[in-house]
Amino acid sequence: MRVQMEINGIRTESNTDATTLLSDFIREEAGLTGTHAGCDTSNCGACTVLLDGRVVKSCTVLAVQAAGRKVTTIEGLGDANDLSPVQYAFWKKHGLQCGFCTPGMIVSAYALLQRNPDPDEEEIRNALAGNLCRCTGYVKIVESVRYAAKLTREGKTPFRAAARRRKEGEIHGPPGESL
Ligand code: FES
Ligand code: FES
Repeated sequence: MRVQMEINGIRTESNTDATTLLSDFIREEAGLTGTHAGCDTSNCGACTVLLDGRVVKSCTVLAVQAAGRKVTTIEGLGDANDLSPVQYAFWKKHGLQCGFCTPGMIVSAYALLQRNPDPDEEEIRNALAGNLCRCTGYVKIVESVRYAAKLTREGKTPFRAAARRRKEGEIHGPPGESL
């Protein structure tokens, strides 16, 4: 069957089975491999995306259920040359090790900050309760989200500001080196 949805602002359409998971559609039809499939049993949260702005585990949603709707994946928040404040905060505060859980963590954290710009530790841990990390423990992850909240509240985008200064020749080196 023909399924169409908007992923990160881009209309995406493909022939797919009625049983195709949204996570598989995102990875295989849209080619967006930042959404990870860690378990396919709704436990790990590595596949977390936003569906019409709400957090969902995309392995628990059929692609046909997302037809005509808006999906936001980690790639929709920023990329390696244009890190959003939450992505930047995870990088700066070392909120990851292997990174497998990180896209889902960041999408959940982003959604939290959209509805609560100043969450306390308990609220952060609750918001990330569906996202499992096997590497880091959660201290650095919580720290990253708190830092992201601060940046977001203050309207700061350090990575983007540095990229702009680099483009204008004020600073040199690869993205992030001067931060
Ligand atoms: S792959 Fe979806 S929750 Fe683990
Ligand atoms: S950083 Fe490895 S699973 Fe979270």
